[in-house]
Amino acid sequence: MSGLEYRLGVLVSGSGSNLQSIIDKLHQGPEDIKIAVVISDNNKAPGLTRAAEAGIPTAVFPMIDYDDRLEHDRAMAEELERHEVDLVVLAGYMMLVTPALLDRFPYLVINLHPSLLPAFPGGSPIEDTMDYGARITGVTVHYVDEGTDSGPIILQEAVEIKYNDTVESLRARIHEVEHRLLPHAIELIANNQVRFDEDNPRRVLIREEI
Ligand code: GRF
Repeated sequence: MSGLEYRLGVLVSGSGSNLQSIIDKLHQGPEDIKIAVVISDNNKAPGLTRAAEAGIPTAVFPMIDYDDRLEHDRAMAEELERHEVDLVVLAGYMMLVTPALLDRFPYLVINLHPSLLPAFPGGSPIEDTMDYGARITGVTVHYVDEGTDSGPIILQEAVEIKYNDTVESLRARIHEVEHRLLPHAIELIANNQVRFDEDNPRRVLIREEI
């Protein structure tokens, strides 16, 4: 960021508590990092209400309105371009994104996932982690590629699983970490403190490692 506004497009499908953390810590924070638009595939997503309450433009792209995922993502990419976003943040966006969007924002789409990837990718990571009997889980922020939760990792933080945890109690502790880690990752990227290791582009270097 060099004195200019750094503009985010945030995609949500549900509650949007992570969107709220971006609104509170960044959009309404001291730095010039602003949410330009919030997009959802679900017109009932509470995240849309959170955005509207913060005065942020919203747009809805229900899958059912499109012939296929490519057409759907092309329309979303056009909306993101219209709002001149610098970074696309998937904050609880429950669909895979296709090259129709990724190719227009190369290495500028990030996702938040509630496990320590590459363990427990997919749609029910907290349940899967507990069913497996793991003792440690966590949160990952990573770049998005065409796979399922498979892109280069930016930040991770561990969360201990307690013997008497339920899915809900564990989810609550994971959310606390997410609400810190995602805004931090966005801040690092916006401030040009993230780059890829030239010898191994799977490895992401941050701040003090650069
Ligand atoms: C988060 O746990 C995130 O890791 C996952 O979906 C959940 C979204 O929660 N991808 P919220 O809608 O931000 O409250």
